[in-house]
Amino acid sequence: MGNTSRRKIEQLQICAEKGVEVGANCFADVKLVHVALPEIDKDEIELKTEFLGFSFNYPIMIASMTGGHPATKRINEVLAEAAETLGVGMGVGSQRAALESTEQVDSFRVVRDVAPDSFIYANIGAPQLKEYGIEGVERVIEMIGADAVAIHLNFLQEAIQPEGNVDARGCLDAIKEVCEAIKKPVIVKETGAGISYAMAKKLNEVGVSAIDVGGLCGTSLAAAEIYRAKAEGDALGEHLGHLFSWDWGITTVESIMECSALPFPIPVIATGGIRNGIDVAKSMALGADLCSAALPFLKPAMENNGGKGSTDKVIEKIKEMGEELKVAMFLTGCKTTVALKEAEVIVTGETREIMKQRGFFDRVKRKKRKIL
Ligand SMILES: Cc1cc2nc3c(=O)[nH]c(=O)nc-3n(C[C@H](O)[C@H](O)[C@H](O)COP(=O)(O)O)c2cc1C
Repeated sequence: MGNTSRRKIEQLQICAEKGVEVGANCFADVKLVHVALPEIDKDEIELKTEFLGFSFNYPIMIASMTGGHPATKRINEVLAEAAETLGVGMGVGSQRAALESTEQVDSFRVVRDVAPDSFIYANIGAPQLKEYGIEGVERVIEMIGADAVAIHLNFLQEAIQPEGNVDARGCLDAIKEVCEAIKKPVIVKETGAGISYAMAKKLNEVGVSAIDVGGLCGTSLAAAEIYRAKAEGDALGEHLGHLFSWDWGITTVESIMECSALPFPIPVIATGGIRNGIDVAKSMALGADLCSAALPFLKPAMENNGGKGSTDKVIEKIKEMGEELKVAMFLTGCKTTVALKEAEVIVTGETREIMKQRGFFDRVKRKKRKIL
């Protein structure tokens, strides 16, 4: 087993078993304004959402997590079965391990085998673009018959790993080349530290199709490094993990607002700390086009569920989030997810202060009149 494969299974186990979530909830600074007379029939609320020309039954995707180790195949299979049953999208975890060794391909390919009709996105890290080039991107797409490819940015995590890839030179140019050469949509996704307005602007300029904000909130993959460092007796890694895991980065809420303030809009996926349907509604009211979550689906996907299989548990979780979203939509008078974009929303506290200081509050306000 290669190092990449070993790291992926360790990360998965740590995320499933240990505390890796950031304590502060950025969504606490956001409030949707209650509409006492919604004037719609709750039973007619439609969760169907269009994104990048694809249609989803829920505006909630299963974010990239796994693959790359034989033990992860079953988890990907469960997640993909749930995605196919409900008509939601799904991303696979970084396919680096399968680029390094064809033995790991199976744990990714299973996703397309059980979800032939779902929107599935491939996944490769920005540093790997320089190593494997366009041919590598073509391989990860072909491996799972992907509808899109996500290029993940995880320099926070890399910077605190002793073996991390910290040569970040030339990544933007490499992303540009991918956008020019690859016919499928290219999503750039952060993995816990968020994407700023300036970064979103650069990514938009090089031809990226969508941004997944991957903000600070919810899972901190840097926190997973604390546990790995501890197990390996790496005192510096442990120290860096503690220092950078819990409040470094742009929160999911800030990042949604910054990315959706671009003069030329780019589709935005809200990820990082989405834990229920209200978080989904808030994200979309702030400007996101779609939401995704990882950790909330990992635990049910790994459950034994009395031998009945854990697919039901993942389906239950997504349906629950859908029902919560419907209540939030009803109480804001929104019949469709597109209407949510016009819902009145209040931003308070530290988030408001930061957005004002950075000059984004007024910019967002100009685009979205109903932000208070
Ligand atoms: C166990 C685990 C593994 C992950 N692996 C990847 C990965 O390989 N590639 C990637 O782009 N994101 C990866 N992520 C990040 C998620 O896609 C997501 O951005 C992050 O977990 C925040 O969402 P959450 O708070 O809902 O978990 C992983 C997350 C978890 C929990």
